[in-house]
Amino acid sequence: MSRLEDNVDRILYSEQQIQDRIKELGAQISADYEGKKPLLVSVLKGSVVFMADLMRSITIPCSIDFMAITSYPGETTVALHEPKLLKDLDGSISGMDVIIVEDIFDSGKTLQKLCEMLLKPRNPASLRICTLLDKPDRRAKGVTIKPDYVGFSNIPNEFIIGYGLDYNQLYRNLPYIGILKDSAK
Ligand code: IMP
Ligand code: MG
Repeated sequence: MSRLEDNVDRILYSEQQIQDRIKELGAQISADYEGKKPLLVSVLKGSVVFMADLMRSITIPCSIDFMAITSYPGETTVALHEPKLLKDLDGSISGMDVIIVEDIFDSGKTLQKLCEMLLKPRNPASLRICTLLDKPDRRAKGVTIKPDYVGFSNIPNEFIIGYGLDYNQLYRNLPYIGILKDSAK
């Protein structure tokens, strides 16, 4: 029987490294938003694991909501179409301090689109992006937004799995972040 780990080429960030970094991010956000009540918006599904840990590392009052947007149809590892909204927020964000919580900032197209949808039409007091991972080498032309909080930057240009990130909907439950073996694609 094949195990999930058999398809991991190598571990990039261990469970402990991830937890340590998220504590730092939570402390930073708690300090930056002192006196405010930010709304954390998790971009489903990839960011749920990060969201669950990040929110527990934030020590000021905050609320949460979820959105789903897709850029990866099926099993491809390349975004084939423009990001599409699958699930909208439950509530209004007018006047709120919104932090988008994302798993990985890759081409940046998903978040650029999300920011366009949220910023002007919905009038939040502020909008920032917190991403666990950043692949700066992959930024698409025309993407002008930048993440405000980054867990780990300079992620190599390879396909990353685990800790919420999937390949064809699998591997999200790995507790660490790893690189998928080519033979598993
Ligand atoms: P972007 O629009 O190209 O920035 O794509 C962002 C989304 O693509 C992320 O939220 C992930 O769901 C997915 N993605 C990008 N790179 C990877 C990867 O290396 N592994 C798994 N998912 C990825
Ligand atoms: Mg995602």
